[in-house]
Amino acid sequence: MNSHLNTPTAAVNRRPWPYPFWVAHRGAGRLAPENTLAAFRVGAGYGYRMFECDVKLSQDELAFLLHDDTLERTTNGSGLGGAWSLAQLCALDAGGWHSPIYAGESPPTLGQIAQFCIANHLALNIELKPSPDLGYRTGQKVADEAAQLWRNQAVPPLLTSFDPKALEGAMAAQSALPRGLLIETIEGDYLDVATRLECVATVCDHTALTPEAVRAIQARGMKALCYTANEASDVARLLAMGIDGIITDRLDRFAPASR
Ligand code: G3P
Ligand code: CA
Repeated sequence: MNSHLNTPTAAVNRRPWPYPFWVAHRGAGRLAPENTLAAFRVGAGYGYRMFECDVKLSQDELAFLLHDDTLERTTNGSGLGGAWSLAQLCALDAGGWHSPIYAGESPPTLGQIAQFCIANHLALNIELKPSPDLGYRTGQKVADEAAQLWRNQAVPPLLTSFDPKALEGAMAAQSALPRGLLIETIEGDYLDVATRLECVATVCDHTALTPEAVRAIQARGMKALCYTANEASDVARLLAMGIDGIITDRLDRFAPASR
């Protein structure tokens, strides 16, 4: 009898992996304003079937897309994004900084992104990107919203975060939504953290990844994914390691149908 099949790790191992290999970073990498609906449309135009985006809470605790803590770099607003209400955020321009044809693109709500992904049969990786000190709450609230938005969908969004507290909040609120731990290095107890958080994946900076780390992640029953690989030589190295998925900015370089 295979008694090891009763372990939690083996249970993770048996889970189906419904996600495509190639993931478009922030919607369309640098080809369109990051974390906007316009970027998702560009990414879908390149044939990408899975997207990564950065999600945090507005002041009224609703999920919207923004990478930085603050608004200055990618919108015409200022200060902490999480200090603005969703209605105020939706009135901002999150596209004009990139190029004039995108002027007027607002920071999307998670609901708008869900609607687009579900309608077009696209998978989503939601990176929980909490405002300062809001890790647990962000995990809880975004997971609750995501569970509602993707109810009855065959492929749920994959929730990832660098912040274990955000993943803890997501696990407490919606344990059935798959989680992944984001890491910058392969040092420390990341495998134990990911296992404790019942993650289905560990997602590492590709420059830190080694064949041994890929094997160690997979031996824990998780998929080994990486960000953000943009060079063909890096992709070749990662494929040789047995990587399970790659997040890229270079939608114009890597055809998603190749895997
Ligand atoms: O989700 C992987 C990657 O997006 C993490 O880095 O800074 O682009 O959010 P960053
Ligand atoms: Ca991200």
